[in-house]
Amino acid sequence: MTVTVCDSTVSTVPYEYDIQTSRGPTTVVLKTDPTGKFGAGQGATVWDSALCLAKYIEKRAKREPHILHGARVIEIGSGTGLVGLVFAALGGGSSESVTLTDTPNALRLLRRNVDHMAKVLKDQGLALPALSSAALTWGSENDATALRSSDPQPPTHVLVSDCLYVPSLYSALLGTLDAVCGPETTVWIAYEKRDFPAEMEFWKSFGERFRFSNIPEAEQDEMYRSEDIFLFEARRRSSPKHNGENSR
Ligand SMILES: C[S@@+](CC[C@H](N)C(=O)[O-])C[C@H]1O[C@@H](n2cnc3c(N)ncnc32)[C@H](O)[C@@H]1O
Repeated sequence: MTVTVCDSTVSTVPYEYDIQTSRGPTTVVLKTDPTGKFGAGQGATVWDSALCLAKYIEKRAKREPHILHGARVIEIGSGTGLVGLVFAALGGGSSESVTLTDTPNALRLLRRNVDHMAKVLKDQGLALPALSSAALTWGSENDATALRSSDPQPPTHVLVSDCLYVPSLYSALLGTLDAVCGPETTVWIAYEKRDFPAEMEFWKSFGERFRFSNIPEAEQDEMYRSEDIFLFEARRRSSPKHNGENSR
């Protein structure tokens, strides 16, 4: 990975993230916005969780390339879009679609990164899945409905990186996960532990609606992993679990 110097004309910082795809090496090129020109808030930079999740997906796809085939992916709280764009670059034309989402204020930078990456892959003669960005504010039924209207089938994968940093948004985030995921959707979450007692509340509620398990460190990338960052794989329960009862 190389982080190069600031582009003084637009005050964004180019950010390059190298991956190995089945078709050879590719660089995912993003712009981050440290001065806030794009007004993307927390979505202006690449967070460490994103590095860990993107490298995990790369490693997993190398072992199980079939996960990319026909994949229809939604990323939630994409920020600069690193994780979703890595998925898109890995899957190339074998994946169907990758939709990166965030709040409306974060979309300008995200759209720029999505459009740019689509062009980079096209210029390299590489096929790519249908790549798009959309507003998906957590808790917004309108946004979730609009997303479903563009593809009524539930996604095969939902990607979530570093979205647990505001406890007051947990219930809205859960509502969006509920609205977006189908029974067969695999959810990959990267979570950085910062305030565990508060974050436990999220995991308790999440566990009522989703079965989830920790992705062991040994299965993660050797370099891009951290003792503060946890990766989970989850799937929706067929019915919510209440007060410790066992349900499917
Ligand atoms: C810490 S950043 C993580 C960004 C990116 N996933 C990463 O790991 O680099 C959290 C992201 O969640 C988004 N976010 C915050 N509140 C949100 C909300 N209510 N609805 C949708 N996205 C939200 C932010 O705009 C930001 O992009």
